Amino acid sequence: MAYALERLADRGAETALIDLATLPAEALLGRRAEARVTAALEAVAGARVVVAGTPIYRATYSGLLKVLFDLLPQDGLAGKIGIAIATGHGPAHSLAIDHGLRPLFASLGATVVPSGVYGSSEQFADGQVAPELLQAVDRAVREAVTFAAAAID
Ligand SMILES: Cc1cc2nc3c(=O)[nH]c(=O)nc-3n(C[C@H](O)[C@H](O)[C@H](O)COP(=O)(O)O)c2cc1C
Repeated sequence: MAYALERLADRGAETALIDLATLPAEALLGRRAEARVTAALEAVAGARVVVAGTPIYRATYSGLLKVLFDLLPQDGLAGKIGIAIATGHGPAHSLAIDHGLRPLFASLGATVVPSGVYGSSEQFADGQVAPELLQAVDRAVREAVTFAAAAID
């Protein structure tokens, strides 16, 4: 996620990272309002490009990501460009990008870039990120910037 945001910043974007795990669960579940969750939703609403990064849990995106998306209004991502990033222990669940994250984005009206990013544990060996994974992020960011410049609605 951080790498993707850095690459977007390199291309002139103002970026913000929202770490969902630090937000109050009661508000994420919609049981009460909380300023930090409201601010997160406003940040998404104001974004041109939304990068969703998630671990794969039980073969798809995390519940934590889902609850945030559930709080967005109908068509809340219309006119926005989505980048889908997931990490899983092994490669077996890489299709969660195409079967999970793409429809999740699309249900809210986002245009998702063609290149998804899926990293497995072995690509994070010895504290180093595999170059091909970083290249996949670079490609997805390039596509997002191209789409943004084309102002797809
Ligand atoms: C509850 C749970 C379920 C998981 N399910 C899967 C899975 O179905 N497929 C997979 O490849 N990895 C699975 N994993 C491994 C995580 O995807 C992996 O630990 C994560 O991507 C690493 O990111 P992190 O350092 O942010 O946790 C699971 C991990 C947990 C804790």
